[in-house]
Amino acid sequence: MTEVTSMPAAPAPAASTEAVVSAGVPAVSAAQELLLRAEGVEKYFEIGGRRVDVLRGIDLEVRQGDMIAVVGRSGSGKSTLLHLLGALDPPSAGTITWLGRELGSMDDEQLADFRNRTIGFVFQFHHLLPELTALDNVIMPALIARKRRAEVEERARWLLDRVGLGHRLDHHPGELSGGEQQRVALARALVMGPRAVFADEPTGNLDAATADEIHGLIEELNRETGTAFVIVSHSAELAGRMRRVLRMNQGHLESETQEAA
Ligand SMILES: Nc1ncnc2c1ncn2[C@@H]1O[C@H](COP(=O)(O)OP(=O)(O)OP(=O)(O)O)[C@@H](O)[C@H]1O
Ligand SMILES: [Mg+2]
Repeated sequence: MTEVTSMPAAPAPAASTEAVVSAGVPAVSAAQELLLRAEGVEKYFEIGGRRVDVLRGIDLEVRQGDMIAVVGRSGSGKSTLLHLLGALDPPSAGTITWLGRELGSMDDEQLADFRNRTIGFVFQFHHLLPELTALDNVIMPALIARKRRAEVEERARWLLDRVGLGHRLDHHPGELSGGEQQRVALARALVMGPRAVFADEPTGNLDAATADEIHGLIEELNRETGTAFVIVSHSAELAGRMRRVLRMNQGHLESETQEAA
């Protein structure tokens, strides 16, 4: 097989997504394009008839190419926030506007399609499909988007090569180490050319050296693809190298860096 050197393009976005992009983009430089804005976002859960307030008014902007760490103690609402920003779960109050379009205005099918084309996720436990090879796991989101395999296979191979697994394409998740599985999950999150990747403790169950390696890889992919990353982490090492660090505290998001939240 010929060596893949430059990044193959992500599958072309659907016409509807293109329309959303051009309609919602404010006149700022491309490097700072506003991806999402959360305004007054609240989230509560009813547990045994009692209301538990988790997010109490979150305002946040994520722009193209951002690298944002979200830190905070266990139970402070970091995963909840990521699920809302990633359109997996609706807020109890407030709005989340993605590329100029409020998520609350989309029905379930539109949301699923939007997520698939625009957003990537990496979870602490990779959620790879055990019966599929590494390559097929990476290609899967494109098949869900009804792309033909031929359209995305080159990019999937490139991404796996990029995360250092070019020699493991045919391995199943059970035949890969924890760090290798997380690298497959990272490649999978990027296969559709998402605008943002939300990663929830992506290295939480890895040793420090492997975690460090994956953080470095995320930084390189951020630079190369312009994809924004929002990463929940307990790792002080990761938070220390991120341009923007936000702390969840008592349902609010506080900036730990100079830039405003
Ligand atoms: N589906 C749910 N139903 C009820 N309560 C929930 C639900 N999801 C989250 N919570 C509650 O919301 C709070 C925040 O949970 P969340 O998972 O967002 O915390 P976290 O900051 O990600 O914690 P950790 O660092 O342990 O992963 C917790 O008190 C949790 O019990
Ligand atoms: Mg969590």
